[in-house]
Amino acid sequence: MFIMTELQKHSSLAVQPELVLGQGRPVQKRIDDFGVPISSGLSTRLQHDHYPILAQQIAADTMRVCIGSPVARSFALLSQPEPLKRIEEANLIEWSWLPDAHWQVAVHRHRQGLRTSRGLYQDSEQWVHLYLAFPDAWPVYGLGEKTGELNKQGKRWRFWNSDVFDPHTEATDALYQSIPFMLMKTDQGWMGLLLDNPGETVIDFTFTDEVCLSAASGALDLYVFSGETAAEVIEAYTRLTGRPFLPPKWALGYHQSRHSYESDAEVRNIVNGFKTHDLPLDALYLDILYMDGYRVFTFDPERFGKAPELIDDLAEQGVRVVPIVDPGVKVDPQYRVYQQGVQSGAFVLNADQTLWKGQVWPGESVWPDFFQADVCHWWQDLHRYFTDMGVQGIWNDMNEPAVFNDRMTMDDDAKHSIDGEWVDHACVHNAYGLLMSQATANAIVEQTGQRPFVLTRAGYAGIQRSAAVWTGDNRSSWEHLSLSVPMLLNLGLSGVAFAGADIGGFMDDTRPELFTRWMQLGCFYPFMRNHCSIGMRAQEPWTFDEPTLARVRHAMHRRYKLLPYLYQLMRDANETGEPVMRPQFWYDSDAAAGNISDQFFIGSQMLVAPILREATLARAVRLPDQGNWFSVQENRLVEGNYHLAETGLDDIPLYLRAGSILPLAPYRASTARPLKELRLLVVDGAQEGRLLYRDDDGLTSTVEGNRYARLTFGYRRASDRIECHLTVDATHYQPQWQQVTLGVPESWRGIPVQVNGQEHKGRFTVDGLRCRVVYIAPGDWL
Ligand code: GLC
Repeated sequence: MFIMTELQKHSSLAVQPELVLGQGRPVQKRIDDFGVPISSGLSTRLQHDHYPILAQQIAADTMRVCIGSPVARSFALLSQPEPLKRIEEANLIEWSWLPDAHWQVAVHRHRQGLRTSRGLYQDSEQWVHLYLAFPDAWPVYGLGEKTGELNKQGKRWRFWNSDVFDPHTEATDALYQSIPFMLMKTDQGWMGLLLDNPGETVIDFTFTDEVCLSAASGALDLYVFSGETAAEVIEAYTRLTGRPFLPPKWALGYHQSRHSYESDAEVRNIVNGFKTHDLPLDALYLDILYMDGYRVFTFDPERFGKAPELIDDLAEQGVRVVPIVDPGVKVDPQYRVYQQGVQSGAFVLNADQTLWKGQVWPGESVWPDFFQADVCHWWQDLHRYFTDMGVQGIWNDMNEPAVFNDRMTMDDDAKHSIDGEWVDHACVHNAYGLLMSQATANAIVEQTGQRPFVLTRAGYAGIQRSAAVWTGDNRSSWEHLSLSVPMLLNLGLSGVAFAGADIGGFMDDTRPELFTRWMQLGCFYPFMRNHCSIGMRAQEPWTFDEPTLARVRHAMHRRYKLLPYLYQLMRDANETGEPVMRPQFWYDSDAAAGNISDQFFIGSQMLVAPILREATLARAVRLPDQGNWFSVQENRLVEGNYHLAETGLDDIPLYLRAGSILPLAPYRASTARPLKELRLLVVDGAQEGRLLYRDDDGLTSTVEGNRYARLTFGYRRASDRIECHLTVDATHYQPQWQQVTLGVPESWRGIPVQVNGQEHKGRFTVDGLRCRVVYIAPGDWL
């Protein structure tokens, strides 16, 4: 990768026709030593016996360089992307052959593109490797769900969806999701690169000033995005691969899970626990033990004999039931799902056309071939079993696919049928979970007419359009608490705005302090779920001592107060791809900010500094170089680059951007309870501020057309008064709230406040809406 102005500096790398990489790596043979075209235009093709190279202009900020032949259609890209940025003459790609037999391809205007360093090689195991110039100084982000630091430079990253039960450490590479999309800061701006290949791939930064992109099969199908900011690059990437889906509002609430609540009675008991302890709850998960012998689309007749009643009763209490659905189907000739699948040829096969079988939770199992449209339709129809009972959310697990064998997945040569061709599993492995979740989301939309909620463990580039992601089997440890932050930030920078980690930790026994800190952080995760493993200490909040319960309750209530703000951010993500959880460098241009991941932003207005270590009652917080910040705990504007925050165990440091206006809510125990009052919190410290807030029913709009109400609010401090403007347009949707409360800073006391030209004290109405001005410390509303 390169910037044109850097060209001369980097173009003198020596050509090595053959090289051996490290110990035991096979000899490599250069394979792009052909033709010398110099051209520009919308598309350029270089012919080679096995490795045709195609460079294609996709949009003004996006180009494709495809080396070799893809094994199948792209699963990452939308089949019908949004209108792309128009290509002007000045944006045409330019491909040139350099004097030392290297080639480069770039979008002319952006002057950013790919430039080979050593070129293209094939090794004796048929892997193809492309070596590109890539300065070590460029930080790299994204790459989906990976352990380690925020900046992914200097390491080798493998993409192969894997069920990793062992503790996830720095040394763990491939996890459940494979998103070979990287975002990098160049000398001139930002670039993104998607390596669109659903087989095994590697992105390796262990070379000096080079990156090597490798694929075990298929093509090196590269999409290169160019922009002035990281947000622009993510916008271009999600324009092609899909925006994060807009979740139903209830999916942003608090979710409780456990492997496994074992009976109808236990589930009711748990839900009651939330009520008696004044805790909110929107979703309750049923893990694998609800099934009859782990048969998908069944309930155990003894323990969950009255599932429809349970689901109804819980819905009345504002709690949705989310059952787990794994892809492994039990081999049982008496079982209808197995019978139907065998009859219709729905399962993955061996080369000899017999069923590919493996062991997973139900024992011997077979797997649906989601690469076939008919199989997806059949699987979708099976979901009527749940949707007829009122289920609106499904949890997809073990969809890497995970198999209990030595390889932990299907054989490389298991067969999928894709558009009439038989394709080896190894060539498309990483797309399996994505296709399953896509089918599941489609089932919910079609059968309920509502926005779907699917939670998935496995995924591939593009997963953001149909499912939320959780980061799999973490541990109850301080390391995993910390790890969740860079991991979720990088998922967001890879298009997956709606993600979370198991709060409290999945494996091992959690401890009160760790659990407290995790809830205090987790109430800011875009997706908030408490989940833990069978055999481990329970993690429902009331199973801890009173002081812990009180602290956790505070964090959970905070989540519900934040919901309008979070919902607005999810809507923004749905429109532009911009992550909800944003790294320090988003608003801090200091070079030191580039690898900070022990604090983060939620949207543009909130800076969260979690406590990530035991027995830590204070911490230093780096305040970004853009804007002024208001400390919620200290109830005052803070100055300087660093702030020493003392919060004790009760809370974590939280800052609001001076002058911003946050849409908030009073506490409710579930999103199913009507939100009668909308709160607008004006943060002290600026002369003016503006807010556009859009609200809808949180359930059907976007499925039935984008119907929402628009509220605008702005203020300006004049010398002798504060002028505010408030408008509400409810033409397309009548919001639930009948009252808007303006929470203004104490520093406004005594200054006349005008709203829409009239001076107001206390209560007044705007367009029939009851309004109220109160002087408030932000901490009272958060
Ligand atoms: C896997 C999942 C975990 C789940 C368990 C049983 O380990 O990652 O969340 O509880 O399977 O279904």
